[in-house]
Amino acid sequence: LGRTIVYEESVKSTQEIAQRLSQSGAYEGTLVVADEQTGGRGRLGRQWQSPKGTGVWMSLILRPDIPLQKAPQLTLLAAVGITKAISKVTGLRPEIKWPNDILVNGKKVVGILTELQAESDRVHAVIIGPGINVNVGRDDFNDELKDIATSLKIESGKEIKRAELISSILKEMEELYHDYLNNGFALVKLMWESYANSIGRRIRVRTLNQQIEGIAKGITDDGILLLEDDEGNIHPIYSADIEIPGT
Ligand code: BTN
Repeated sequence: LGRTIVYEESVKSTQEIAQRLSQSGAYEGTLVVADEQTGGRGRLGRQWQSPKGTGVWMSLILRPDIPLQKAPQLTLLAAVGITKAISKVTGLRPEIKWPNDILVNGKKVVGILTELQAESDRVHAVIIGPGINVNVGRDDFNDELKDIATSLKIESGKEIKRAELISSILKEMEELYHDYLNNGFALVKLMWESYANSIGRRIRVRTLNQQIEGIAKGITDDGILLLEDDEGNIHPIYSADIEIPGT
């Protein structure tokens, strides 16, 4: 992974560029990295603040031969690889918050946006776009983000070399990806659950029209979160924001 790296100083979104490269046949493992994004995209149509020089804003093209419904597994794979790399490079202990945020000391340092290109029900490409707050300073976050976001520099007290972090991420992801292609999702799933902050704990899930509380039991092979409510019923959670009450 990352044998071809496209570096841009300023772009609207690395996702957009990776999508375009992928459509025109870019090899698997092609990575787009930008120093700044002017229109960084977040999940659920949100924006992603991507100021110049302080983060890792990148998009990776993968082309696994898998059915569409398995694609979320690759976001989980990326989350595990990035978590491992962060802990190796910084010594911090990041945790994963389902579906794909990475937190340090309860605040978000990484968000991952995954977008798909599909042909009928097979994956043509998976574009995995992590945004990592690396050397963002405390005062660089606006009021809305201050309480919920942080950076590796704030948490570790030192400047982190972005190139070193990127190469560590690629190495960790490559190892996991090989294992995934050869042996399936089991290892990623196990590691994901061991890094996840919610498994075995009480969580609250808000969807558009309801709120459920219960224990997060684990994830399925499709990356769906299983929640057991107080009556013992299991609810599959496909997409939502989860909260851990009391944190
Ligand atoms: C989230 O909402 O948590 C996901 C944020 C993902 C942001 C990254 S930054 C690199 C890539 N390019 C984008 O436009 N978005 C992703």
